[in-house]
Amino acid sequence: MDKKVVFSGVQPSGGLTIGNYIGAIKNFVGLQEKYNCYYCIVDLHAITVPQIPKDLRKNTLEVLAIYLASGLDPEKCTLFIQSHVNAHAELTWVLNSISYMGQLNRMTQFKEKSKKSEENLNAALFTYPVLMASDILLYQTDFVPVGEDQKQHLELARDLAERFNNKYSETFKVPEPLIQEFGAKIMSLQEPENKMSKSDQNENGYILILDKPDAIRRKVKRAVTDSIGEVRYNDEQLGIKNLMNIYSVFSGDSIEEIENRYQGIGYGKFKEDVAEVVVQGLAPIQERYNDLMKNKDYLEKVYKEGSEKANYASMKTLRKVYKKVGFIQR
Ligand code: AMP
Ligand code: TRP
Repeated sequence: MDKKVVFSGVQPSGGLTIGNYIGAIKNFVGLQEKYNCYYCIVDLHAITVPQIPKDLRKNTLEVLAIYLASGLDPEKCTLFIQSHVNAHAELTWVLNSISYMGQLNRMTQFKEKSKKSEENLNAALFTYPVLMASDILLYQTDFVPVGEDQKQHLELARDLAERFNNKYSETFKVPEPLIQEFGAKIMSLQEPENKMSKSDQNENGYILILDKPDAIRRKVKRAVTDSIGEVRYNDEQLGIKNLMNIYSVFSGDSIEEIENRYQGIGYGKFKEDVAEVVVQGLAPIQERYNDLMKNKDYLEKVYKEGSEKANYASMKTLRKVYKKVGFIQR
């Protein structure tokens, strides 16, 4: 009866990329069969950078529809919106009180993001990883499927769980990251040394889950490669390596099979085929997405039922926490 718990979240901060899909969402689907999974749309995290309110609302529903279109089943897992479950913000406040400024200062994502937005550096961006720790710890989570870029935040969540447990007695489960061997970091098509990100200025750097076939073909065609001219998997050819990862994930073929198939054949044909497997792989998701977005009542039903379940589970943990830190029972 006692299934292990999985928790993960995606920010509704604009179109999701195939990096999000490969590094995170695709893996969520398999996990729902075996575990008690909570998949959240983390709108509280999204406002750590400027958002246009009406776009945030639209993007939040879009992530939910992409979750569903990718195969997440609300009968099997809990899908919900972070701001609908009060315990997330409340636990963050408590965990802030045991978080060290020095440790938060060392978070690479914070360092990078603060460099980009020096003029409006806000306090929420600084405590962002504490909110993420709260998300995870509220559900007594065993496993957290994420991309490589979230590893350091996961470490922080583990630290905070242990610190709280040591200070106040055993309260939180200490979570483990679940990071895929392949595709945990999909790189930019334009600068293959950086991760593919929807906040990239250059739209040729990323492929969106909802990109039209023509856009996908154009972007793959323009992807940066090298002058070596052989489809081989190694760190001298980061652009090709990245395209091979993408090809492999969408086609199910191994890296070795791909290397063999393109021996002595130029990049042109390889790129055409990469684009085709991505187009084919995304087509059914896009089709389901379009249907779902026409059915706002259904989406509403899913997130309302999800937040009820999440509220119930998270309040159990929050009540314990409040009691341990010395707050009088409500
Ligand atoms: P975010 O869009 O930042 O909320 O990320 C949602 C999930 O997608 C997280 O688990 C990230 O680690 C993952 N992710 C984002 N970008 C990439 C990428 N380029 N490659 C692999 N995983 C990614
Ligand atoms: N910070 C994560 C990201 O940007 C999103 C996130 C928020 C998350 N809370 C989480 C991921 C809890 C896993 C678990 O990718």
